[in-house]
Amino acid sequence: MLQESIAVKDVSPFHISTPSELLETPKEYQDLVKRQLTAHAEGELSGADDYVKLFYFLTNDPYEKAVCCELAKDELDHYQRAADILLDIGIDTSFMLSQNLNDRAFYATEAVKSCRNWAERALISTLVEDAVIDVLEEMAQSSYRPIADMCPHVLKDEKLHVGHGFRITRSMCKTKNGFKQIQEALIRNERVELRDIFTLEPKIQKARISRNPRTNEKVIVPEKKTVQFKMSKKWFININNE
Ligand SMILES: [Fe+2]
Ligand SMILES: [Fe+2]
Repeated sequence: MLQESIAVKDVSPFHISTPSELLETPKEYQDLVKRQLTAHAEGELSGADDYVKLFYFLTNDPYEKAVCCELAKDELDHYQRAADILLDIGIDTSFMLSQNLNDRAFYATEAVKSCRNWAERALISTLVEDAVIDVLEEMAQSSYRPIADMCPHVLKDEKLHVGHGFRITRSMCKTKNGFKQIQEALIRNERVELRDIFTLEPKIQKARISRNPRTNEKVIVPEKKTVQFKMSKKWFININNE
C-alpha cells in the first residue's frame, strides 16, 4: 500500500513544451507566463540602460567603461531571448526598445535610478543583480519549457555581472576612502540584507617594531585600524559557478 502511494507521487513533472500546447492551457496559466516573461524582458532592457545610461558616466576608468558596454550587451541579449519566446506566443515587445527607463514600470527601482557614485554602482551589481539571480533560479524551474531552457545561459552571465560588482566592492574596501564610500552606500541601502553575501569587519593591527629597508634602522609602526573583507560561502559558490 505504501509502495503504491510512493509510485503515484513519482509521476514526471508537468511541462508545457511548445506555444501551441500553451494555447491549450487555462487562461490563468497563459496570463501568468506572459506577465512573468514581459516583466523579465522589460527588466533586462532596464539592466542595459543601467549600465550605459547610469553606470558608464560614474567612472573615468576606460576599462570599466568598456565593461559597462559589454554587460549592457549581455542584458540586451537576455531581453532578446525573452522577446523571442514572447513573439512565439503572439506578444510583440519591440516597442520596449525605444522606451525610456522612466517609462518601465516593472524593474526600474529607485535604488538604481538614484545611483550617485561608483560605490553604489558596485553594490547594485553585488546585491540587486544577486536578487535577479534568485528570480532566474525560480524561472529555471518553470513548467513552460522555453522559459526553463532560456535560464541557464542568462544565469551564467548574471553570475559574472554580480562577480564584477563584488570585485569592485572588494577593491574599494582596500583603501580607507574607498571603504568609507562603500559604508556610506550600504547605509543608503540599509534595508538590503547582507548576511549571506559578505562581512566588512574593522580590525586592529597591533603596534609593532619594524625596520627601514634602506637604512636598516628600527622603526615603531603604530597601531592601525584596517578592514577585513570576508566573502560568505554562498557567494563563493555563486562566483565560482560551483
Ligand atoms: Fe540580464
Ligand atoms: Fe545583469
